[in-house]
Amino acid sequence: MGTKRELKMPILQWSEKYSVGLKTFDDEHRKLIGFINDLCDIVSTENAAVEIPKIFNSLVEFTLYHFVHEEETMREHGFLGLPEHILEHNKIRDRVADMIVKVISDPVGELDDLVTLLIDWLEDHMNTVDKEYGPFLKEKGIS
Ligand SMILES: [Fe+2]
Ligand SMILES: [Fe+2]
Repeated sequence: MGTKRELKMPILQWSEKYSVGLKTFDDEHRKLIGFINDLCDIVSTENAAVEIPKIFNSLVEFTLYHFVHEEETMREHGFLGLPEHILEHNKIRDRVADMIVKVISDPVGELDDLVTLLIDWLEDHMNTVDKEYGPFLKEKGIS
């Protein structure tokens, strides 16, 4: 039935409080939030064991793309906080490898832990280091 999705509350919802002040990166963060919600939506369906790894794979690919996009943009404009930002991205990149192993071994059983971890890092990262580049890049003409 078409009502099923409307009845579900997203586990994480985009809010202005997450905005880094640049549409380009806010849109990418929205997309990451969307993947996390997709994972939660699929968990109670028959295809969960097959679909969770697929969605997770898309989320990982997009996360890695997003990190490079941020880093390249900061580098291009000479943002001094770049080395620290890369260190933070690398911490997450390292954890992704562990997550992949877990998702492959038990996608449904590991989902709660996985989603908790994803929300933690995404909220924390968007609200701290990502907000640092916002005003600087805005001044450089990025929107
Ligand atoms: Fe970042
Ligand atoms: Fe980001």
